[in-house]
Amino acid sequence: MAKQAELIFAGGPDEETSNTQTMASSASRPARKPAAKTAKPAPALIPLNLARDNRFTHLIESIDPVRNRGDVVLSARNTQTFLDLIAEFRHGDTLRRHGLAVTSKLLFCGPPGCGKSLTAEVFAHELGLPFLVARLDAIISSFLGETASNLRKLFDEAERRPCVLLLDEFDALARTRGDNAEHSEMRRVVNSLLMLVDRFKGRGFVIAATNVEESLDPAIWRRFDEVIVFDLPDARQIRRLIDMKTRNFPIAFDLSERIGRLVGYSYAEIERVCMSAIKRSILKGAKTVLESEFDVALTEGRRRRDVQAKLKRA
Ligand SMILES: Nc1ncnc2c1ncn2[C@@H]1O[C@H](COP(=O)(O)OP(=O)(O)O)[C@@H](O)[C@H]1O
Ligand SMILES: [Mg+2]
Repeated sequence: MAKQAELIFAGGPDEETSNTQTMASSASRPARKPAAKTAKPAPALIPLNLARDNRFTHLIESIDPVRNRGDVVLSARNTQTFLDLIAEFRHGDTLRRHGLAVTSKLLFCGPPGCGKSLTAEVFAHELGLPFLVARLDAIISSFLGETASNLRKLFDEAERRPCVLLLDEFDALARTRGDNAEHSEMRRVVNSLLMLVDRFKGRGFVIAATNVEESLDPAIWRRFDEVIVFDLPDARQIRRLIDMKTRNFPIAFDLSERIGRLVGYSYAEIERVCMSAIKRSILKGAKTVLESEFDVALTEGRRRRDVQAKLKRA
């Protein structure tokens, strides 16, 4: 069951043929075709509404969610969680009629480059909802005086119509609470943001994403209905990602031995290796990924990681 769940989110249509009836049917329900009314997110409502405040508009973006479930590799557990969330969203009215709250506040954790932002986009796409992204590090470190009121406007907008609101770089909050205790104004902003999350009653989702969940204090964790962890890919997920990234320019040699060399890499790093291998092979006039070019890309990727590790230590 777990394995099948993974296939549905990450795989091509041929992979859904096994005995995955319940899962496959829930996956192929309207999820693939968002309702016509909501399929096309309204253009940039946030920037328009907030146009008077120019400084705010670059901190929040309304993005057309284009990537879909075929563009993301998720663990079986996370796939199941998202299928459940989609089902709950679709039956929100029924649940509310029974006096039940619908899950709407999610915290995404895990190392960088493992699909937190991507999954938020895919989720918006699958739900047919507009996708709004707010970079908290930018919001919090600029113009303190107006931040709280701008945040309020942002949440008002997210409550006014269903959407997926991504609060990216949420760890900026934790840093602010811990490291800048002397800035009472900043603390006030953070507290008001937490209150806004707490009181959010919108019919869409608020998703906070962070790379450094260890530094988030329990007061923050408590505010979310669901915490979803995005881990580094295991060997099977690495394979799936490479297959996905090379679907239009395939690999014609046996990859098995190289997979092990990519364990410990993030999805974003592996994607970069694939893209580099493809480019190099095209420049060599090949029609498939060349083994020699894949190996060069691997070495390149390794060097990049070494440099990054050095910079981190420094
Ligand atoms: N799980 C994944 N499946 C497929 N591609 C991924 C995955 N995670 C990351 N990527 C690729 O790496 C890019 C950066 O990932 P991102 O979602 O921004 O990571 P995070 O937000 O966790 O730091 C994505 O746009 C996508 O191209
Ligand atoms: Mg991100």
